[in-house]
Amino acid sequence: MSIDRIRHAGLRDKVMSAEQAAEFVKDNMLVGMTGFTGAGYPKAIPTAIANKAKDEHAKGNSFGIRMVTGASTAPECDGVLAEANAIKFRSPFQSDPTLRNNINAGNTQYQDMHLSHVEQQMRQGFYGDVDLAIVEASGITEDGKIIPAMGIGHAAEAIRAAKKVIIEVNASQNAGLEGMHDVYTDVGLPPHRKPIPIIGSFDRIGTPYLECDLDKIEAIVLTDANDRNSKFAEPDDVSKRIAAQIIDFLDHEVKAGRLPKSLLPLQSGVGNVANAVLAGLLDAPFDDLTGYTEVLQDGMLDLIIAGKMKTASATALSFSPDALQRFNDNIEFLRDKIILRPMELTNNPEVVRRLGVIGINAMIEADIYGNVNSTHIMGTKMMNGIGGSGDFTRNGFFSMFVSPSTAKGGAISAIVPMVSHHDHTEHDVMFVITEQGMADLRGKSPTERAKLIINNCSHPDYRDMLQDYYDRASHAGGLHTPHILLEALSWHQRFVETGDMRIK
Ligand code: COA
Repeated sequence: MSIDRIRHAGLRDKVMSAEQAAEFVKDNMLVGMTGFTGAGYPKAIPTAIANKAKDEHAKGNSFGIRMVTGASTAPECDGVLAEANAIKFRSPFQSDPTLRNNINAGNTQYQDMHLSHVEQQMRQGFYGDVDLAIVEASGITEDGKIIPAMGIGHAAEAIRAAKKVIIEVNASQNAGLEGMHDVYTDVGLPPHRKPIPIIGSFDRIGTPYLECDLDKIEAIVLTDANDRNSKFAEPDDVSKRIAAQIIDFLDHEVKAGRLPKSLLPLQSGVGNVANAVLAGLLDAPFDDLTGYTEVLQDGMLDLIIAGKMKTASATALSFSPDALQRFNDNIEFLRDKIILRPMELTNNPEVVRRLGVIGINAMIEADIYGNVNSTHIMGTKMMNGIGGSGDFTRNGFFSMFVSPSTAKGGAISAIVPMVSHHDHTEHDVMFVITEQGMADLRGKSPTERAKLIINNCSHPDYRDMLQDYYDRASHAGGLHTPHILLEALSWHQRFVETGDMRIK
């Protein structure tokens, strides 16, 4: 913990303990908590808030906050607060098991929404008044500007909208992060909105700092705790087969002259399959790749270090412990190759469409017509949320969805007659890819798509069942998108009742 990270002499007077800072947090406050996929979230204050909640609950008092973040945080933030039942409302994305249970038990109200919409809805007052912003920083400059940490997310807008601000300055963050950020907030609201001047994926349009009215800063807490830094599994055979198909397809497009050899800016979703695709690009015949993504994970970092990727723009850096070490060791080399921006820019539909981003995201299930469920297990239980997948799917040049063809040891087919929850429509989804194969849905009618998805993507254990469903639905009338409605979701019901979709 180092007070030297606060270069503004006056602001050093605001340093206090996390427990003292938590005293500013009151029941039912709307808190803009920074954090994006295991980076940029406060590490000490949430535990102090959670302890305060437990004390209040023990006294029989109500205590909980309404919390809007950038995206998921970590056990020391979402986790501790959820354990203490201290989150009444949560938006827009989470991935914590305890919080997920609270949401699915109805103890936490959760609004799952496109990440690109969060800042504008805050600006619009959609959530109500923002009482407090709690912001992780890697330092504060001489003139009181905030140097962001490994993630920005919605920090700039949370600070602007909040009545008061608490900053957690984290000395474990590499001091070399200063200068990597590109904070641009001139997005505005219609009818006065202007074009966002990002023409190339690496254009810098803002400043490296978050600005805050110094009078709003109520407290500063010092920490030196690391980010979540989850380890990735080594790519397994299924992930490698999915990755190989994507790379073959992109290679085919390059050879056909429809894509440049540097491809188009890549967006890759969270998780092991996405990471495997990026790992596969290390040996692929492309050069000077670029990234325009929301989370930059190990795979993209390694592409940059290997010289395969020229530049990448993201809102957060989410690394395994080994990759963090590589990032820290190479920070001088990486400084002019990575930009971190507000998520309103990384996920912005206008920019994603202009750049022609290739979006690769994981799904829970797809149906035979190309509709995708990214968020709900068996149609009712929230998993994580839609995150940025909708921003990139609707607006990307290519929108790809990847998944193993089965889940739960084969008891669930990821290809089903009708998705049990609908996040991405057949109008947006261009490719469905499993380890079995790839379906290119572009320019295809629903019945043409069904044939491709059943034949190319479904697992052999389910292929005949899906074909049988499709054949019977085709004879039942309604031939544009053939369905037998009462039967369509019985696959999910069968799993709920028997634990296996294959049992009739
Ligand atoms: N039916 C039921 N459960 C399923 C399932 C299905 N069709 N497919 C997967 N699951 C379960 C898995 O068994 C696993 O359960 P477990 O946690 O109990 O082991 C869990 O869902 C996660 O599946 P996994 O195979 O580990 O996938 P993942 O880590 O790649 O995550 C998503 C997949 C879809 C949950 C994840 O990518 C996500 O949250 N996406 C939405 C947000 C997003 O796309 N953001 C992208 C922009 S960064």
